[in-house]
Amino acid sequence: MQTFDRIEWEVFRNLDLDGKGRCLTREGRPFHVLLAQQFSRAELEELGALATSIRRIAKDRTGMAFLRERLSDKRAMLYFTQPSTRTFLSFCAACQILGIQIGEVRDTATSSEFKGETKEDSVRTFSSYFDLIVMRSQESGLAERMAWVLSHADRPVPIINAGSGRDQHPTQALLDIYTLQRSFEHQGGIDGKTIVFVGDLLRGRTVRSLSSVLTNYEGVRQIFAAPEAFQVSDDITAMLEARGAEFEKTASFEKVIPLADAIYMTRVQDEWDAVKGESSGVDVSAYCFTAAHLDALKPNAIIMHPLPRRGEISVEVDGDPRAMYWRQMRNGMWIRTALIAQIFERDGEIRDYEKSG
Ligand code: NCD
Repeated sequence: MQTFDRIEWEVFRNLDLDGKGRCLTREGRPFHVLLAQQFSRAELEELGALATSIRRIAKDRTGMAFLRERLSDKRAMLYFTQPSTRTFLSFCAACQILGIQIGEVRDTATSSEFKGETKEDSVRTFSSYFDLIVMRSQESGLAERMAWVLSHADRPVPIINAGSGRDQHPTQALLDIYTLQRSFEHQGGIDGKTIVFVGDLLRGRTVRSLSSVLTNYEGVRQIFAAPEAFQVSDDITAMLEARGAEFEKTASFEKVIPLADAIYMTRVQDEWDAVKGESSGVDVSAYCFTAAHLDALKPNAIIMHPLPRRGEISVEVDGDPRAMYWRQMRNGMWIRTALIAQIFERDGEIRDYEKSG
């Protein structure tokens, strides 16, 4: 197996997702975080446990002061050229928890890309000043390409993919898995659970990433409830078939609500419309979770959403204890903090601190 810093770009580019994932693991810990497929079950569990330790340590001032010293020698660049609220802010907060100072570019109109600089040169520039690059872009595969460029340059700093095109959102998958781990902690964990994905499953990168990561668990059944025009694409079903994972597609959301241990709602991703306004021709009114559906939901089930929502979950649902999306969002801050601590090998210190306390 070739490692990422040795492999030729064309060879890496042509690997399947599992092959790419294997290439990215470096002595059992992530360096670049580019793909949901690079995480094994053991790594997901370790990361979740670390996030929980950090969450506990952060409860008081002494603990916060300890965390803030972990990476006070580092700087991070948040290069977000695609809109973001939660992912951007939770990475900011994660950096602040660990004492990392941050710089940002959120619009290429204000950077030298506007003058015609290539993305490769922009990213090499960031790596001259910063120790970590977190990037979101609307271009599929861009984070991979940039990580490869840096791994073959004289200052290889890690890149975290904070969402690329329609294909990948690995850190969202991490926070979704952490939310599932926590929610089912006393119910036998994620194994054997039924996860119902709802909405625009065709273009949602969070669905694509989570669906793949869920195959690390035993006996998970995935149900995709969407109108025909927004059903999951063949790459997801082929991946699930190849891994022997149980799944089904349905047009009937209401029928599958009682089966769910977790319902994963998503919005229409109309920014990807080939022709402006084409999504508005698809009737998604039957794919909204309202207060009227609460009775049909199992007592221990949870309702998730990567957010932002646009009416797929009515606000009356927010007060139900099974509504998990706000806590899911906060979990994103903890898991991203854990991920960064792990990349910079400060996880051992954090575990020791928790043990000693
Ligand atoms: C998601 C995204 O950007 O893909 N948002 C997020 O990161 N929480 C989901 C979405 O925008 O629908």
